[in-house]
Amino acid sequence: MFDLSGKVAVVTGGSRGLGRADCLALARAGADVVVTDILLESDPELQRVAEASQSALAQLFTSHNVVYAERTSAEIRAMGRRSMAIKMDVTDRDQVAAVFAQVKHEFGSIDILVNNAGTLDHMGQIEDQSDDLWERDLRVNLTGAYNCTKAAWHHMREQNWGRIIFMSSVAGTLGGFGQASYSTTKAGLNGLGKSMALEGARFGITSNMIAPGIIATEAFAAGNPRMNERMVLRTAMRSMGEPEDVAALVVFLASPEARYITGQVIHVGGGIDLFVY
Ligand SMILES: NC(=O)c1ccc[n+]([C@@H]2O[C@H](COP(=O)([O-])OP(=O)(O)OC[C@H]3O[C@@H](n4cnc5c(N)ncnc54)[C@H](O)[C@@H]3O)[C@@H](O)[C@H]2O)c1
Repeated sequence: MFDLSGKVAVVTGGSRGLGRADCLALARAGADVVVTDILLESDPELQRVAEASQSALAQLFTSHNVVYAERTSAEIRAMGRRSMAIKMDVTDRDQVAAVFAQVKHEFGSIDILVNNAGTLDHMGQIEDQSDDLWERDLRVNLTGAYNCTKAAWHHMREQNWGRIIFMSSVAGTLGGFGQASYSTTKAGLNGLGKSMALEGARFGITSNMIAPGIIATEAFAAGNPRMNERMVLRTAMRSMGEPEDVAALVVFLASPEARYITGQVIHVGGGIDLFVY
């Protein structure tokens, strides 16, 4: 079961964290995987790109050398799968179109799209929300996923088979204190993904949303420790999840066995959305 041999997956924001775990899990299940990210470790302009992204996290990870797209791709090739690391900013429509055309040309198909790229570094109550970062979060988290979905769509439609997975968040269903822009983009992804489920059903394309809770990635570790502790105490399981907990669901939703599941928002949160007291 859950054999992805012969399928080609494109993962956005695959350099680290959940995206990297998704890439490795898809490859272990047999898929060829294209690892895309705004940051590649070989990029001579890495620092400039990180600064231009306005992301404190991107800058932090760049200075600490936590960017693994090419390493991830090499690990996947070592498993015997085909893989490439490609620089792609999901907000840049021309670049997105060029990358999907390149993947189709070099890999032959685009079967699985994981819209994972996201920003997690903008916190502040409404008075303190930065207008620029509000715009950036919408551009990356929501419009970025729309751009990639649109670029993959006609390939999936032509082959009458496709799997689209949106990395949403519990913040999209529950809201988030001090997370106006982030939770808005994640709620937006739930609407986008359900619409794609309706439009894709007749073409063998499924579209689902994964809503992780508190997952132990580098991005989470870079957050406020006291706030992180309070969030963990909100989970029924009183613990964080691992990136592999999310990646296991990505593999399942991408598999032929999940063909009758579409338009769903599935929480991977250790019960963070339950009435815990
Ligand atoms: N870690 C968690 O607890 C958690 C919880 C809920 C949802 N999520 C979601 O999971 C996804 C991954 O989160 P993570 O914890 O691995 O964070 P992360 O910051 O480690 O990963 C995000 C990736 O997206 C990339 N990225 C940012 N802007 C981009 C752009 N314009 N174009 C292409 N790539 C871009 C970054 O370089 C990075 O590699 C995000 O969408 C996030 O909202 C994470």
